[in-house]
Amino acid sequence: MSRINITSVSKKFGDTHAIADLTLDIADGEFMVLLGPSGCGKSTLLRMVAGLTQPSTGRIMLDRTDITSAPPRQRNLAMVFQSYALYPHLTVAKNIAFPLRTQKKSRKSIAESVSSVATMLGLTELLGRRPAELSGGQRQRVALARAMVREPGAFLMDEPLSNLDAKLRSATRSELIELHRKLGTTFLYVTHDQVEAMTMATRIALMNAGRIEQVGTPAELYDTPRSTFVAGFLGAPPMNLMDADVVHRGHELYAEATDFSAALGIANQSVVDRRAVIFGVRPERVRLRPNAIDCAESDGAAGITGTVATVEYLGGEELVHVAVGPNTLCAKVTSPSGVKAGDRVHLELDPSDIHLFDRDTRRRLVWQHDDEVTEFDQDLHVNANTPVFTA
Ligand SMILES: Nc1ncnc2c1ncn2[C@@H]1O[C@H](COP(=O)(O)OP(=O)(O)OP(=O)(O)O)[C@@H](O)[C@H]1O
Ligand SMILES: [Mg+2]
Repeated sequence: MSRINITSVSKKFGDTHAIADLTLDIADGEFMVLLGPSGCGKSTLLRMVAGLTQPSTGRIMLDRTDITSAPPRQRNLAMVFQSYALYPHLTVAKNIAFPLRTQKKSRKSIAESVSSVATMLGLTELLGRRPAELSGGQRQRVALARAMVREPGAFLMDEPLSNLDAKLRSATRSELIELHRKLGTTFLYVTHDQVEAMTMATRIALMNAGRIEQVGTPAELYDTPRSTFVAGFLGAPPMNLMDADVVHRGHELYAEATDFSAALGIANQSVVDRRAVIFGVRPERVRLRPNAIDCAESDGAAGITGTVATVEYLGGEELVHVAVGPNTLCAKVTSPSGVKAGDRVHLELDPSDIHLFDRDTRRRLVWQHDDEVTEFDQDLHVNANTPVFTA
């Protein structure tokens, strides 16, 4: 079991800043997933931890040891590659035993270790076969077994499931979660697949252009994305994002755009009027009221009305794309929604489902529902939902 501390690490390839002053602390026993779009630097970061690439600047610690410049074999880490990298001429048993043979362990102790790892991964029947005689999923398990047999302090994995078909990928995901639970070893796992990240990670480090946008549990990133990048990366389909203005109307605050007015709550003096924001709401949080004839006008309050552009049928659910002024909002609703292209619909949102981001910095605006009663006078306490915007 090991702790990994990456401090102010940068990596330049010529003029390319693959990693820019990145700091990340991985606790003992964590399943940390490095997630991000292609080219954001995930593999480069993993390879620097493994010792396969040398950082341009910064420091990498494994527990109390500075490993920034240590050769790979002196780091108590095991790397599993996307390509598995098995030896084709060796049997499964010999492939698994390979790291122990180079450590000059006794024949008996090697046989015991191989047998125990093979049992854990369901490979016992396959020990006599060669890699060419295995399926993709079986090869992946052999690669994992070879990494496990050394009992490393941490596993480093670079997209290990990407060569598997969808069904096998899902099964192997479950196996890895179970394996992590049993072993309690630190995992550092690279993927660009948000489903893998969300299902397996204890924490996700979401990367963008060589930097970390946000680190947190899957729920933290999903529920409180720090930037529009995070909001738009997680979720399928991703969060609806559109330009809007925060305005006062009476004692209330609204986010407004063309044909769009969403109530945010009671106004607070610290709010700047007409603040330019990016408004966000997740598709599954948008409620549809079909056949509503411009409710906004009828009750004189906030409202969002639009015209259904397309309906995507997904079986149990439907994605309803609604044109609202110049924007299109997606609602993910239970099937059958009862709406079709061309229908006028009313959209309903709960203020607590609304995300706001600064238009310039694209960073999240926090609206605190502060319940530290002692710090507020009676008026503010009554308005416990008072939003306070801070950048
Ligand atoms: N050996 C290299 N020489 C030059 N540039 C490199 C090298 N390795 C990576 N890069 C560049 O560094 C950046 C980050 O690459 P990296 O492979 O770490 O991305 P990644 O997040 O793993 O992407 P993917 O999801 O496609 O695997 C890219 O712009 C890439 O072109
Ligand atoms: Mg990569």
